[in-house]
Amino acid sequence: MASQWWRSAVFYQIYPRSFADSNGDGIGDLDGITEHLDYLNDGTDRSLGIDAIWLSPINPSPLNDWGYDVSDYCDVHPDLGGLPAFDRLIREARRRGIRVILDLVPNHTSDRHRWFQQSQSSRSNPRRDWYIWKAGAPDNPPNNWVSIFGGPAWKWHEATGEWYLHLFLEQQPDLNYRNPEVIAAMHDVIRFWLDRGAAGYRVDVIHGMIKDAQFRDNPPLVKVEWGSQTDVALKQRHLYDFDQPEVHEIIRGFRRVIDEYGDRMMVGEVWPHSNESLALYLRPDELQQAFNFRFLFCPWKAERFRAQVAEIERILPTGSWPTWTLSNHDFPRHITRYQSGPATEARARLAAVMLLGLRGTPFLYYGEEIGMPDVEISRERWRDPVGRDGCRTPMQWSNEPGGGFTSSRSPWLPLGNCAAVNVARQSDDPYSMLSFYRRAIRARRASPALTAGTIRVVDDAPADCFVFAREAAGSHAMVALNFADEPRGIELPSGKILLSSDFGREPGRIASGKMRLAPNEALVLDSG
Ligand code: NOJ
Ligand code: CA
Repeated sequence: MASQWWRSAVFYQIYPRSFADSNGDGIGDLDGITEHLDYLNDGTDRSLGIDAIWLSPINPSPLNDWGYDVSDYCDVHPDLGGLPAFDRLIREARRRGIRVILDLVPNHTSDRHRWFQQSQSSRSNPRRDWYIWKAGAPDNPPNNWVSIFGGPAWKWHEATGEWYLHLFLEQQPDLNYRNPEVIAAMHDVIRFWLDRGAAGYRVDVIHGMIKDAQFRDNPPLVKVEWGSQTDVALKQRHLYDFDQPEVHEIIRGFRRVIDEYGDRMMVGEVWPHSNESLALYLRPDELQQAFNFRFLFCPWKAERFRAQVAEIERILPTGSWPTWTLSNHDFPRHITRYQSGPATEARARLAAVMLLGLRGTPFLYYGEEIGMPDVEISRERWRDPVGRDGCRTPMQWSNEPGGGFTSSRSPWLPLGNCAAVNVARQSDDPYSMLSFYRRAIRARRASPALTAGTIRVVDDAPADCFVFAREAAGSHAMVALNFADEPRGIELPSGKILLSSDFGREPGRIASGKMRLAPNEALVLDSG
């Protein structure tokens, strides 16, 4: 069987425009990432120690949705350095044992993509049917579907007198996966990057790739389920545009291509209708992994996190492996969501231990390892159509002008407070967030229980505490998380302290029996 490296890997998501600018144009680029690979993993304890990078889209794009509107699937955006920079990145990453997965955006293209240019040129163009066109009158869209970014999901195309579908911006027309030529074209795209050394893909809006054959109206939203935040805003349940049964055949086709290469993987961005339907995407011939976005919506409460973990553990098919994520490029960063005056950093450390301690693959988001918060960006300075810029600002490397991110005086998005939070300052400080992440990632790697073990959630943990045990052959660990701003007494088996977010506690010491967890303390014991 091909190696399942993604199970034990710690992933690190990079938003390429915001990581490091190598040529002073104010825009992060792939050479900038290559220059900082040692920071991510140089094989020593001085680096962060991650195993794999997920790059948000790098393809040429008019940037209406910052790369999620692809105009050429088989090239790299010139701002990011083109294909040669990609090849350099892959080569250098490989030398350090770091794998790189790319963002595949198969649901829609940019309206500037040559496929759409052809498709919209006339009703009889051979590529007409590559997108979703519908006849009708200009004042009467084919159905009631709304775009995730607001407004109707249909755009009237004056020149050819038909509507086309766009579940996102009107500059992002949806491809038609009922057309086998589209499927074949996307298989070629998948092969292109795997041939060039990509380790796999994060697949964008994978649940949306195929729509109801009859294009029925979506029902109004009645019940708010977890993760349905867009529905709440739009007052519509995406019953017929998302998560259709036929999507699984498309995914199986993608998986067959992935499997031609042995050890490559896909992690899907899946927003399912229900728990049961999430599990379907993880059948053995579909995705190796699917994101679950539950932690993005969890208030700072032990029982809420515990409930989400228990539910994911219950619904995932046997043999599949969860993923955990606290932050990404679409939502405010967790250190900002959970900020609480002087407790903010302690909460962020606890969150890191939870992410790295759970059974599953953690996906970190660039900057979280230094506790970089969101940057407030006024509406006039938004570059994103829906204002997600605050969590996408440049990495804060140092307190130099340009934050060590760029030598330009105008970074593409404003820098945050580099004096307060930056890599250089934290790098040699054993009490910094960065040093803590380094230790936490190492503690995880050193413990077979933490990297590969089973999980048992402790039911009778004290109030405000989330406690779980991890177990692998010959290796046991206990993770105890106190979400309260007060200390909590707790009974734990005896064991060696592997890690604590309370700097007063000495790693390596033996702890046993009754313990007092400090406010917001996260403690990991090696219990034999
Ligand atoms: C999900 C991506 O994460 C988001 O950034 C993007 O806007 C939409 N998909 C559309 O591609
Ligand atoms: Ca640049």
